[in-house]
Amino acid sequence: MAETKKVTVPSLMQMKRRGEKIAALTAYDATMGALLDEAGLDLILVGDSAAMVVAGYETTLPMTLDAMLYHTAAVRRGVKRALLVADMPFLSYQVTVAEAVRNAGRFFQEAGAEAVKIEGGQEMAETIRCLTDVGMPVLGHLGLTPQSIRKFGGYVLQGKTAQEAERLLTDAQALVAAGVFAIVLEKIPAELGKKVTESVSVPTIGIGAGPYCDGQILVTHDMLGLFEKFRPKFARRYAELARVIRQACSGYVEDVKRGQFPSLEESYTGEEE
Ligand code: KIV
Repeated sequence: MAETKKVTVPSLMQMKRRGEKIAALTAYDATMGALLDEAGLDLILVGDSAAMVVAGYETTLPMTLDAMLYHTAAVRRGVKRALLVADMPFLSYQVTVAEAVRNAGRFFQEAGAEAVKIEGGQEMAETIRCLTDVGMPVLGHLGLTPQSIRKFGGYVLQGKTAQEAERLLTDAQALVAAGVFAIVLEKIPAELGKKVTESVSVPTIGIGAGPYCDGQILVTHDMLGLFEKFRPKFARRYAELARVIRQACSGYVEDVKRGQFPSLEESYTGEEE
């Protein structure tokens, strides 16, 4: 059983100083949130990846603020120990700083989030500063930022050229100066992940960013083998749940069709409560 001490923003930052790796995954509902929490995750992200792995969209762009609030409140009811971070969806923080503050505030006030995540580099510095100044911790996100997928033209590796790598390092410094408590690094070369990790005072949490980051995050539906539409190189599978579910459900169909479910033991006699 995992340690029960509550993970907080300061305790997560101390983990970097102690050289202790941070384990993070995504969740979108209370049942999965509780399972991940019991398994000892340090950080649980209610990712806007819900748009793809829950709602069936091709990208994260259609995700709405109301849907993210719903998912976050659901996960909140299952999570006690891990730090609960809500992903701010596309257009909920990019239009004006005032809108970003108001929308972020809803995750804390209505959904019980303990931090929010926003994508982007230097251009987000002012927003991050305003959010942290009024008490809302921010997790940054650099590299392959899925809300910019139309700009990138696909889920392509970022930070490949010296110029891109330099820009990413500068962005990381700008996020730290603006007050982020940690930075997600997505789909960049491992050596660049290492450079960023060594150059910033806050933890880096990698997804396809190599082994040198201070922590790792995966989309839970990927690592459990539930989402089969595509399989990124970095998404190690710890289970094959899609296969298990198909098997279980076809067993159920067979039993119902043959009249083998329910049995009399699974039926009421009329004596029970
Ligand atoms: O939306 C998401 O799930 C994410 C993580 C995978 C970092 O942004």
